[in-house]
Amino acid sequence: MAQNPSGRWDETSLKTMASNFLFETRDQRIYRMIKNNPNKPEPLCIAAVDEIWRQKREGLEKLIPERFRDASIADLGYMTGKVVTAMEEVLAPPTRNFNDPVGLVFCGPAGSGKSHTAYALLRWMAERNPERIVYVDSYAHLVQDLRSEFSSDAYTDLGATWDILNNISGLYPGLIFIDDLSSQKPTDFETDKLMMFLENRVNNYMPFFITTNVRSADFASVFGERLASRLAGYSRIIDFETFDKRFPGSEKKS
Ligand SMILES: Nc1ncnc2c1ncn2[C@@H]1O[C@H](COP(=O)(O)OP(=O)(O)OP(=O)(O)O)[C@@H](O)[C@H]1O
Ligand SMILES: [Mg+2]
Repeated sequence: MAQNPSGRWDETSLKTMASNFLFETRDQRIYRMIKNNPNKPEPLCIAAVDEIWRQKREGLEKLIPERFRDASIADLGYMTGKVVTAMEEVLAPPTRNFNDPVGLVFCGPAGSGKSHTAYALLRWMAERNPERIVYVDSYAHLVQDLRSEFSSDAYTDLGATWDILNNISGLYPGLIFIDDLSSQKPTDFETDKLMMFLENRVNNYMPFFITTNVRSADFASVFGERLASRLAGYSRIIDFETFDKRFPGSEKKS
């Protein structure tokens, strides 16, 4: 626990959480809980945070497809450092420089390990702070949900996919993960919605994490200039093409 010698919470070190979108440590989260509930005993606040995080972790595990349930960053070989560093850069407090990355994009051909690596990274992040991962789904599902929300006007509902992607309600400060952004040219509906929420996320430093089959060099021709510029211009991009079949993880297991 981050405590000073008198046993109180060490405010200076804990107050450094600069934005709503940061992955607070458990100590920082407990500090916030105590601060927001001055009349509650500290042990109760600690127990509350631990219980919230336990439930969130359980919920996230359910969102991870069966195939990737055991994916672990320990099995990624030299990719571990690369993806962890990139994610840490994305989640770092914004310096408000033009180059602040807001997104992390894994791109490369089918079977190169993008989803496996992404879910391993998400599981690692969930261990640290499960509360700040607010959306985990495939792009196909995302589009399906948005289509149904927009055709029934449900997109304004609290907790709608559209709410989560844009954090309209303020209840979803955190990282969104979208697996397998289609390599098909997006329809007008998709381009419109992708542009809107990516623009919103970029402008408000709301982190996103995407995998796609489209190579970074082909972003503009597949997604169009405007979308490509938002994706590439504000993201750390990790290309998987050269890493195909070079993961040491499966060898280690056998
Ligand atoms: N580091 C690894 N250790 C063990 N298995 C791995 C590793 N990376 C990938 N795999 C396995 O290889 C297969 C293909 O990986 P994955 O599904 O992540 O590829 P992908 O790049 O997302 O492909 P697609 O573009 O088709 O979605 C999966 O069964 C996955 O579990
Ligand atoms: Mg995949």
